[in-house]
Amino acid sequence: MTKNTPSVLLTGGAGYIGSHTFVALVEAGLQPVILDDFSNSHPAVLQRLEQLTGRRVTCEKGNVLDTGFVAEVLRRHSCVAAVHFAGFKAVGESVQQPLMYYRNNVSGLVSLLEAMATTTACRSVVFSSTATVYGDPASVPIDESFPCAPESPYAHSKLVCEDILASLRASDPTWRTGVLRYFNPVGAHPSGLIGEDPNGIPNNLMPFVTQVAVGKRARLQVFGNDYPTPDGTGVRDYLHVVDLAAGHVAAVQALLGKGESFTVNLGTGEGTSVLGVVNAFERASGRPVPFEFAPRRAGDVAQYFADVSLAESVLGWRAAHTIDDMCRDAWHWQQRNPDGYRTADSGTPAVHAPAPVRNSPNSPLRPAVST
Ligand code: WQD
Repeated sequence: MTKNTPSVLLTGGAGYIGSHTFVALVEAGLQPVILDDFSNSHPAVLQRLEQLTGRRVTCEKGNVLDTGFVAEVLRRHSCVAAVHFAGFKAVGESVQQPLMYYRNNVSGLVSLLEAMATTTACRSVVFSSTATVYGDPASVPIDESFPCAPESPYAHSKLVCEDILASLRASDPTWRTGVLRYFNPVGAHPSGLIGEDPNGIPNNLMPFVTQVAVGKRARLQVFGNDYPTPDGTGVRDYLHVVDLAAGHVAAVQALLGKGESFTVNLGTGEGTSVLGVVNAFERASGRPVPFEFAPRRAGDVAQYFADVSLAESVLGWRAAHTIDDMCRDAWHWQQRNPDGYRTADSGTPAVHAPAPVRNSPNSPLRPAVST
């Protein structure tokens, strides 16, 4: 890395997708800068990233809602682009606490964009969106021309953010925006050093399966086996997080290169059922995954998988990993880190102490929630 290496701000960069994108950006010769308040991530990831990349990690501790702090970080590191990961992402929680989601997810993006507007050279932004903006699709596979009908405050907050980016571009064509609609990210870096570390009981399928296999949970509840699908269980488009990270690098490079804005789906284009994931995981881990059928989960749809042809034509990106790769790497991460980042590193040589994290002035935290 030299002082001329382009710097890219990663808001929420210490999180699951952000940390994998950090590694991919370094491998692509770019200089990622993490901005994170660690409200939904663990500082231990910084040392893991240093081990993986062999370089010091630059991390600025603070909340993306603190616009002055974000602007200062952009200037300090001469960032030429930003990838916005920071946001809450639990569908069920958003139904219970919509204001917390709109404030954090929508105001967080506005704050980042306002901070970028104070600089002269940072007008490219990649936005972490979600396939749930489509709601319950009329058919599958889903392409980007499908109507958007979000069914939760979480998904709606993401669609509002997409609309904000469109309005900004219309007001000032110097802005370059890349919207990535994720399907179902799963798995972990093959090193087993970084991975998904959900707080509490996992909402999502793969981390729940890995916790059953490692003995933390007794059995998996399969939510519904009467869907109109080949085996009656829900079908989703699972995407290896390393492929997703590569999609972010391709998005940054496209904005800094051609400079045209885009909105693309990131998925494999293939659907896998819940039982398909269970079978693949048992093959990959050699461990049984006990399960029982349970009633359908409110808000779930039968089938959800992407048409990914636009990402391939616009970004030259295509997923490379199979569901077996995803299960293998998810299991490796879980085995090596039974308690996620709270697992004491067993004899892992410390390359550096984690980079000093700067504390922003008081920044808005999660609002107190009445019980
Ligand atoms: C997958 C399948 C469940 C858990 C969610 C968010 C979405 C996105 C990705 C952020 C479904 C079944 C699950 C379990 C089960 N996140 N399942 N037992 O719901 O497709 O999408 O994560 O962008 O916003 O909604 O993923 O992993 O929760 O469920 O049977 O214990 O697994 O019914 O068919 P989902 P999921």
